[in-house]
Amino acid sequence: MFTVETTATAAYVVAALLFILALAGLSRHETSRAGNTFGTVGMAVALVATIALALDHTIKPLGLALLVGAMLVGASIGLWRARVVEMTGMPELIALLHSFVGLAAVLVGWNGYLHIEGHPHGADAIALRAEGLAGIHSAEVVVGVFIGAVTFTGSIVANLKLSARIKSAPMMLPGKNFLNLGALVVFAALTVWFVIDPTIWLLAAVTVLALLLGWHLVASIGGGDMPVVVSMLNSYSGWAAAASGFLLSNDLLIITGALVGSSGAYLSYIMCKAMNRSFISVIAGGFGIEAGPASDKDYGEHREITAESVAELLDSADTVIITPGYGMAVAQAQNGVAELTRRLRARGVNVRFGIHPVAGRLPGHMNVLLAEAKVPYDIVLEMDEINDDFGDTAVVLVIGANDTVNPAAAEDPSSPIAGMPVLTVWEADNVIVFKRSMASGYAGVQNPLFFRDNTAMLFGDARDRVDAILAAL
Ligand code: TAP
Repeated sequence: MFTVETTATAAYVVAALLFILALAGLSRHETSRAGNTFGTVGMAVALVATIALALDHTIKPLGLALLVGAMLVGASIGLWRARVVEMTGMPELIALLHSFVGLAAVLVGWNGYLHIEGHPHGADAIALRAEGLAGIHSAEVVVGVFIGAVTFTGSIVANLKLSARIKSAPMMLPGKNFLNLGALVVFAALTVWFVIDPTIWLLAAVTVLALLLGWHLVASIGGGDMPVVVSMLNSYSGWAAAASGFLLSNDLLIITGALVGSSGAYLSYIMCKAMNRSFISVIAGGFGIEAGPASDKDYGEHREITAESVAELLDSADTVIITPGYGMAVAQAQNGVAELTRRLRARGVNVRFGIHPVAGRLPGHMNVLLAEAKVPYDIVLEMDEINDDFGDTAVVLVIGANDTVNPAAAEDPSSPIAGMPVLTVWEADNVIVFKRSMASGYAGVQNPLFFRDNTAMLFGDARDRVDAILAAL
């Protein structure tokens, strides 16, 4: 017998499969477009099924009008933001979207409380008690609100840090690890108390505690570790959605939340490994990571070079490695860089690219820009594939990269980015650094590379400077 209920359940299974195919597709460059399409179709199926279910159940004309109105407003804002966002602004937009998921989970939790625990003589509350499930419902409420509130404020801080509206340096409150640990212990105690006696002030206390914890967890994590924070908040937003799924008895939300939660956690783990960071330290709000003393060390004088001299240097070089970073994306210099690569290769120069796993502001940022500019894939190498070759290289062009080529990470144990693997560009015969000033990179750490004898600074907008080199060549 086909009912709206059974058809919607079938549609949910199809949507869940499409989401799994989407994740599989997105894991590889070549299949990512197909993955995106699977995800979009899956979400459309899920939305239609959910609305059909709502119509079949209790929804009244006013409710339907609100639902459609909210969807139209949300979809218009979403489409507009997705169209205008720069690729360099993606991480902060993603962080903002995670905050919405967190807020939604908090609202769903509070709604669940007001409907059941806050309304003990209602039919649903009586039915739950009769089935012996009242305690489970209270636990779902408190856990959902907690995860949602941590995700909400954590994501807002991440958004503010990524958009440079607050400083990216880690906030170092005295005893920060005890504050985090203490908050978790208090949360566990409040949860038990709430399940036994679900009063509104206990839920309010958990909400405030979680909002503060989310803020503190992300504020305590330093600039260089922000890529991990974004994927970690992605994971939290998944768990928050799964918690809402339990409260709303929506199986698809549980499945989707679990998929996002676990894939986000795995991505965080991979990024921690790539950056030689302890996964547990980072998710525990920078546990055990202490800021080194602010370095005002005098590294001596830097040397400047002109675009014409760089052209001469390239003219006589046999091997060149280009290590791009965030500045190449800001300057939109990738097309000029691709043209420079073509010209040098036509002259017989061996040109390759070295890509750091967190160069730019999102995973794969540089690879996407270079692919867009039609740089052949086979000369674009990962850090591990190229790091041994810098010693045999005549010229390295560091185009808008800073933290990812900082020797302090390898040589100065007191540096805030100590231990993070970096591209060992300083081993080459000549290093040319393209940037506009002597300012530090995202992590806010001075870069001794700029003061080395074999380094010369080419100041100015990267796109401009690449064009000037092309003209001189
Ligand atoms: P950064 O360390 O961010 O340095 C970029 C450099 O580009 C800056 O020093 C800046 O110097 C220069 N620059 C900016 N605009 C420029 C322009 N128009 N022309 C020329 N130069 C320009 O870059 P990176 O080496 O790519 O490192 C990435 C950093 O971001 C890491 O700390 C990483 O942890 C963090 N992060 C990464 C991600 C992901 S997932 N990739 C996400 C969040 C954060 P001037 O201002 O002097 O020009």
